[in-house]
Amino acid sequence: MPIISVTNLSKHYSVYKKPPGFLGTVQSLVTRKYEVVRAVDAISFNIDEGELVGFIGPNGAGKTTTLKCLSGLLYPTSGKVSVLGFTPFDRKAAFLKQIALIMGQKNQLWWDLPAIETFLLNKEIYDIEQKRFDTIVHDLASLLDANEFLQVPVRKLSLGQRMKMELIASLIHNPKVMFLDEPTIGLDVVMQKNIREFLKEYNRKYKATIILTSHYMGDVEELCKRVIIINFGKILYDGLLSDLVKKHAPYKLISVVLKEYVDPKTLEGIGELRKFSFPEWIVRVKQNKSNETAAKILKHFPVEDITIEDPAIEDVIREVFSQPDKR
Ligand SMILES: Nc1ncnc2c1ncn2[C@@H]1O[C@H](COP(=O)(O)OP(=O)(O)OP(=O)(O)O)[C@@H](O)[C@H]1O
Ligand SMILES: [Mg+2]
Repeated sequence: MPIISVTNLSKHYSVYKKPPGFLGTVQSLVTRKYEVVRAVDAISFNIDEGELVGFIGPNGAGKTTTLKCLSGLLYPTSGKVSVLGFTPFDRKAAFLKQIALIMGQKNQLWWDLPAIETFLLNKEIYDIEQKRFDTIVHDLASLLDANEFLQVPVRKLSLGQRMKMELIASLIHNPKVMFLDEPTIGLDVVMQKNIREFLKEYNRKYKATIILTSHYMGDVEELCKRVIIINFGKILYDGLLSDLVKKHAPYKLISVVLKEYVDPKTLEGIGELRKFSFPEWIVRVKQNKSNETAAKILKHFPVEDITIEDPAIEDVIREVFSQPDKR
């Protein structure tokens, strides 16, 4: 039994369009024109316990709307959603105690008080025993290496330190299912890495099921075996990230560092030249030709170093989005 099951979920927003100008304003007093935005358009997927799934797509694709439907903040226009056997929008206490929706751009911490005060409030809301509370705060703060920030007024924390406190506040009740909406937004690379490590560890330690959206492909690459790609409210891809790379980028990049200068003319016919700026030389080759080509290069050129790489995930994703519009 999947822990999250979504069948033909749609969420449409009615957006009021005011015609331009003064006349438009007058007109709109009489007849209002509405336009329907299909933010989420009949999507279906299942997620098993313990999975960590990346949910990716460009701005306005429908990611946040989907996560809000899954966590019960929004009522779907149509379709069926089941999370841990509950219908999210019923917002039953037993459901809310097992999930968390964490949004990188929203905060719940009290600005002027130390984060621990917000944790204590959440302790009351979720009805958590003191002992369990102490253990979980200690565990989470240790995992995040953030013990020293618990007692500092939130306004004095950096963005990254605050995000760590937000995570603890959202996880005080030890949810089984986490919806993470851009948890690393605006953070520097070191802090992004910290948060990723934490999520990986949390997923492992508590067998938590996690759906994560992010515009940083590093997050997705590092954390998620499976990705769901959405655009215009529709799913374009649902499967292994590695298969996506194979399917949409059936090529590899061979990077060579040369020991001594060679005439660029001699490089012709070896893969597709991407860059030659001595001593660096990069060629693109078909996936199944990469070993053969690398061997050829090693045999015929003065090679200092050679590496075979997959293309950047960003490039692969761009390739997916460049397919014909499926609306
Ligand atoms: N409350 C709302 N009322 C009307 N339209 C909305 C509302 N919320 C979102 N939309 C529209 O629904 C679509 C999907 O928005 P959503 O926030 O789900 O996108 P997203 O994938 O999370 O994008 P981003 O990466 O920018 O966060 C967009 O076209 C957006 O303008
Ligand atoms: Mg969003």
